[in-house]
Amino acid sequence: NPFDLYRAHLSNLLADITGVDTKIIYPALSWTQSLDKGDLILAAPALRVKGQKPDELAKQWAEKFPENDPLFEKPTVVNYFMAFYVKGAPVVETVIPTIQKYGKDFGSYKFNGLRDPADPSKGRKRIIVEFSSPNIAKPFHAGHLRSTIIGGFIANLYELAGWDVIRINYLGDWGKQYGLLALAFEKYGDEEALTKDPINHLFQLYVRINTEMSAEKEQMEKRKQDGEDVTELEANSLDEQARRYFKKMTDRDAEALAQWERFRNLSIKRYQDTYARLNIRFDDYSGESQVSEEAMEKVGREMLETGISKEDKGALIVDFQELVPGKEGKRLEKPIVRKRDGTALYLTRDISELLARHEKYKFDQMIYVVASAQDLHLKQLFKIIELLGHKDIAAKCQHINFGLVLGMSTRKGTVKFLDDILRDVADKMHETMKKNEDKYSQVANPEATADTLGISSVMVQDMTGKRINNYTFNMDAMTSFEGDTGPYLQYAHARVSSIRRRAGLSDEDLASADLSLLTEVHAVNIVRLLAQWPDTVQNTLRTLEPTTVLTYLFKMTHALSSSYDHLQVVGSERELMKARMALYDAAHTVLGNGMRLLGLSPVER
Ligand code: ARG
Repeated sequence: NPFDLYRAHLSNLLADITGVDTKIIYPALSWTQSLDKGDLILAAPALRVKGQKPDELAKQWAEKFPENDPLFEKPTVVNYFMAFYVKGAPVVETVIPTIQKYGKDFGSYKFNGLRDPADPSKGRKRIIVEFSSPNIAKPFHAGHLRSTIIGGFIANLYELAGWDVIRINYLGDWGKQYGLLALAFEKYGDEEALTKDPINHLFQLYVRINTEMSAEKEQMEKRKQDGEDVTELEANSLDEQARRYFKKMTDRDAEALAQWERFRNLSIKRYQDTYARLNIRFDDYSGESQVSEEAMEKVGREMLETGISKEDKGALIVDFQELVPGKEGKRLEKPIVRKRDGTALYLTRDISELLARHEKYKFDQMIYVVASAQDLHLKQLFKIIELLGHKDIAAKCQHINFGLVLGMSTRKGTVKFLDDILRDVADKMHETMKKNEDKYSQVANPEATADTLGISSVMVQDMTGKRINNYTFNMDAMTSFEGDTGPYLQYAHARVSSIRRRAGLSDEDLASADLSLLTEVHAVNIVRLLAQWPDTVQNTLRTLEPTTVLTYLFKMTHALSSSYDHLQVVGSERELMKARMALYDAAHTVLGNGMRLLGLSPVER
């Protein structure tokens, strides 16, 4: 990492001044969140020097700092914090050429030099990111949308950091309700509709049969109250037929399974189209239906033998209160792992699946991106894995949760599919674009651009706050070009592209620019921000919050927008034009890198 130069240089200087080892100083130096607080900052207590007040130490050390250091100004001191400001000229002349050299890899593991270039797979760690995981025949709701956006981002992040990333989509595609769905297809299915639009067709069937089933149940209840014998009716009810159908599926009846595979595969194909629009692909479509019955039986037996599960009214439960002392045990409650009729549950499948994944992929880490509504479920899962004697495996698993999206259902209160949401937002974007007739006519493919901007709107709104916060789905706010929105971010990126087109300079022109001409405070501040990108990526690996990246990107767009009046490119004298364009081009690279990390497709026009 070429910017380590700054930190290393400063660590050495401070080691001379303080007598503290550089090994302690180096990690204590961090890049700041805002430029007016300096570039690097140090909290005096972090050096663990005893005997004097940290405020005084900071002051003394600052006084001893050399007057004419080549890279840093003399530090300023606030309480026990020392703030170090880089000198404009050297930072400009290292940062811009570094970004030119690394381009898309600026900020990645290739840039950080964390990996042996001769053998990049050496010491490479493997992570599984499980995300999206919608339920077949049910709407792709807000929870799945958020899991998709956040999960895609986390997978990109680890890839950027040099991990071997495996993206898994764990579909909800098993259980009695899918016996009911297959039954509905037998009754009312339409081959053509199924192949054309499987997700909607299956959903319609699902709704229809569920409505029918409720009506039937109500009827039977009434008759029962009227004293009628309904045994025969019950034995032929939809509920019972569904149970029998699902039993065929679990008994591996070839016909029933083949039909089910077809539903599943057609749905996956449709999902893939949507994921492609979001720049997402999966390495593995697993799902609840893919969990092996034998494996489940085996781990079920193990749980019973080791006393992790016990019988309770014919079912098997895990009584955490008995197994885990104190509050934790109470909080984990008493989940069922096998129903009275012998069928497995969501939790049972997850236990088996986790162990199977470990066996198959030998992962170093696994992240589940699932709504916070399932906090308890995942805690139970990890604890059971631990109790089964796999403390090491449990320690590799992490739940990345997130809050709700409010106000996403339509006016009629009906559910919406992701495709419909994306289409609505794209339409809205298209309307906005049409209002600017001049610019509109210059866009080669307005529909595609509207689609990209629509997707950016949804994604940026989703990633703006901390993951755990709820937010309200607000179409007007998210599609606005004002404020820190997706369209604004795209606009900022496209604006730099437009300057480049008008300047008509080649890459060679930019590479040979005289960067010493960039002395204005606006130019230096943009460069100081650019220098923070690699550290922002490292920080994000700690927070796993998309907002860490977004906050950085919007800081960049604000710095850019306030600079244009001061750093004119087109119309300036040629050497100055080259230098300023080199600066803006570096910003273009970093904005693009950040946007791609978030899963956005940066637009040029
Ligand atoms: N399909 C589930 C749902 O929609 C989410 C799956 C989460 N992942 C897991 N391994 N349990 O609620």
